[in-house]
Amino acid sequence: MTPGSPDGSRPLSDRVRTALTSVVDPEIRRPITDLGMVRSVDVHDGGRVTVGVDLTVAGCPMKSTLVRDVTAAVEALDDVTGVDVQLGVMTPEQRQALRSQLRGGAGDPVIPFAQPGSLTKVYAIASGKGGVGKSSVTANLAAAMADDGLSVGVVDADIYGFSIPRMLGVDRQPTRVDSMLLPPIEHGVKVVSIGMFVPAGQPVVWRGPMLHRALEQFLADVFWGDLDVLLLDLPPGTGDIAISVAQLLPGSEILVVTTPQAAAAEVAERAGSIATQTSQGVVGVVENMSWLEQPDGTRLEVFGAGGGQHVADRLGATLGTAVPLLGQVPLDVAVRAAGDDGTPVVLSDPDSAGARVLRDVARSLAGRSRGLAGMRLNLSPVAG
Ligand SMILES: Nc1ncnc2c1ncn2[C@@H]1O[C@H](COP(=O)(O)OP(=O)(O)O)[C@@H](O)[C@H]1O
Ligand SMILES: [Mg+2]
Repeated sequence: MTPGSPDGSRPLSDRVRTALTSVVDPEIRRPITDLGMVRSVDVHDGGRVTVGVDLTVAGCPMKSTLVRDVTAAVEALDDVTGVDVQLGVMTPEQRQALRSQLRGGAGDPVIPFAQPGSLTKVYAIASGKGGVGKSSVTANLAAAMADDGLSVGVVDADIYGFSIPRMLGVDRQPTRVDSMLLPPIEHGVKVVSIGMFVPAGQPVVWRGPMLHRALEQFLADVFWGDLDVLLLDLPPGTGDIAISVAQLLPGSEILVVTTPQAAAAEVAERAGSIATQTSQGVVGVVENMSWLEQPDGTRLEVFGAGGGQHVADRLGATLGTAVPLLGQVPLDVAVRAAGDDGTPVVLSDPDSAGARVLRDVARSLAGRSRGLAGMRLNLSPVAG
């Protein structure tokens, strides 16, 4: 240490506590010192330091990361000759306090994105039929936005065909802190899926009210933190979940995914036009599987042409607002393979034609101001 320097003159235990403010809980993504996780700091003769850290829950999957980060932060200090991290677990009272702190003091779970003044853009990804690439588009938009530095969450609300965890490479369950869920984070994206709550290989047979409740839980009980963007991967068609999304998230906007095929486009248009009933906006249309580029550079239009533009035009006419065709994503082995491997193509092969289009779409969605569609539903006459 440098005698008389401003830092060196402070007691080592103080400097250890300051150093610990740089350690961030890997799940909650806030400093452990703000979360009440640092139980004790003891400095022993000779410069050995023992740090007591209380985990939110026993068996926290990230505990080795925490031990490593705490050790590294303290070891870097002058005068420290060794670090011991003693793990404990928060008491139920501490957890309760943490929960209400994370919820901004609110006792009961509320859906943060439905509160007036929420700055999170919410996009519900819809399609008429399955297999058109809705989940691939969702996973890639999320990964691209996170890669651009945004805070992004994804809810896989496709109860019967959940595929988001695989596409984003998530193989972990959310961590439960009593009634609060900390979502796994992969490629910088917070991910929650119905697939995380059903035993593998078991069919999900849930009806409307149960689906509504499950979605409500995803939105309210999960600790999302401050998100810039929340994406919801909806089941195909115009089912109960689409209605629930509109009710639970009145400010959400719909992004329609279709292939160029006329038959797909017709049902996609129906899925999009649900917005007229729910007062949601349609942010645009993404056409997927638009063509296959041949070795000679020509385009083979496997599923025909024009479906995306057609859906955009028709929805625009129905809704009375311009609905843009945001992009045309070609058929590309890289898109499929990346999804299977759990690293979306915008990250694994960013220069491929498909990745470039998906990145452009992500940027145009992220750059918009939050949609106002449906917001008036939140206002009562006396609210001024
Ligand atoms: N542009 C594309 N090029 C090649 N394969 C694609 C493309 N988009 C999607 N796929 C593949 O098509 C299948 C269906 O896509 P998916 O995103 O699961 O559709 P949905 O969610 O609409 O059912 C997946 O195997 C996916 O990897
Ligand atoms: Mg899907």
